Amino acid sequence: MGELGGMAMLGVIGGSGLYSIDGLEDQAWVAVDTPWGPPSDEILTGRLGDLEVAFLPRHGRGHRLSPTEINYRANIDALKRLGVTDVLSMSACGSFREELPPGTFVVVDQFIDRTFAREKSFFGSGLVAHVSMADPVCQRLGDLIEGAAIFAEVTLHRGGTYLAMEGPQFSSRAESNLYRGWGCDVIGMTNMPEAKLAREAELCYATVAMVTDFDCWHDEHGAVEVATIVEVLHRNAQAARALVRGIAPTLGASHHGACRHGCDRALEHAVITPPQ
Ligand code: ADE
Repeated sequence: MGELGGMAMLGVIGGSGLYSIDGLEDQAWVAVDTPWGPPSDEILTGRLGDLEVAFLPRHGRGHRLSPTEINYRANIDALKRLGVTDVLSMSACGSFREELPPGTFVVVDQFIDRTFAREKSFFGSGLVAHVSMADPVCQRLGDLIEGAAIFAEVTLHRGGTYLAMEGPQFSSRAESNLYRGWGCDVIGMTNMPEAKLAREAELCYATVAMVTDFDCWHDEHGAVEVATIVEVLHRNAQAARALVRGIAPTLGASHHGACRHGCDRALEHAVITPPQ
C-alpha cells in the first residue's frame, strides 16, 4: 500500500470518556461506508494547524457499543479510506503495577490478545496473509507521543504489555493475578484486534493506555467500578486532548520517506496465497 513520502494524516481513536477532540478547524462529521459494514460512528474530520485529522469515537457517541460489538475492521478500514497514515489509539485501562497509578498514560509496546469473539483479519477466504506482530506499535509515533507528553505536562510511561480481554465483565481476582504473573502491565478490552488490523492495513499505530484503576489484584483497592473509571477518565480527558494537539506540529515533519519501522510495508512479505 502507500508510502509515507506524502502528506501525513492523523487518525485518533478515542475510547471511553473521549468522544470528541477540540481545536479542530473546518470540522465535519462524515459517514464512511466500508465493505466490512459501518464503523462505530461518523468520523470527525478537520485540521490541527497544517495536519489533517480524523477522529473516531470507538464506542460511538453516547457509548453505545460494547468492546465485543465494535466493528474493528470497519473502523480501521474507514480511517484508511480517509487517507489516515498514523493511528493514535487512546483507551482506558486497568493497571497491574503499583508504579502505574490511575492518571498515568502508558505508551504500550506489546500486547497479549485474550479476545475470542471478534473478527481479527482482513484476510482469509481466498487471500491469506500472515503479518508480523513481533513489534506491534510504531516506535516513531511513540517518540512523538512522548515528546508531546512533556509539552502537555502529562505523566507518561514508555513501554508496557497490554492484556486485551474480551469483557464486558471485568476480570476475576484469579485472572488479575494470573496476568500480573505473566508480566502484563495494563489491561483493557479494545486494543485487540485493533492493533492487528492496523498492521494489516499498513498503518503506523501507537496506543496510549490511560490508567483508570488497579483492576482487582490490589489489596488496598476494591473491585473495579465503572463510576471510578468514568471519574478518572473525565479528569484525564483534557490531558488526552492536549496530547493530540501536541503531536500535530511534529507528525508531518516526521514523515520523510518510508516508515523506518516498516509499518507502511507490513504486507510486503506477508501474503502467502500465490497470485492467480
Ligand atoms: N478498562 C478500564 N479499566 C479496566 C480494567 N480493570 N479491566 C479491563 N478494562 C478496563
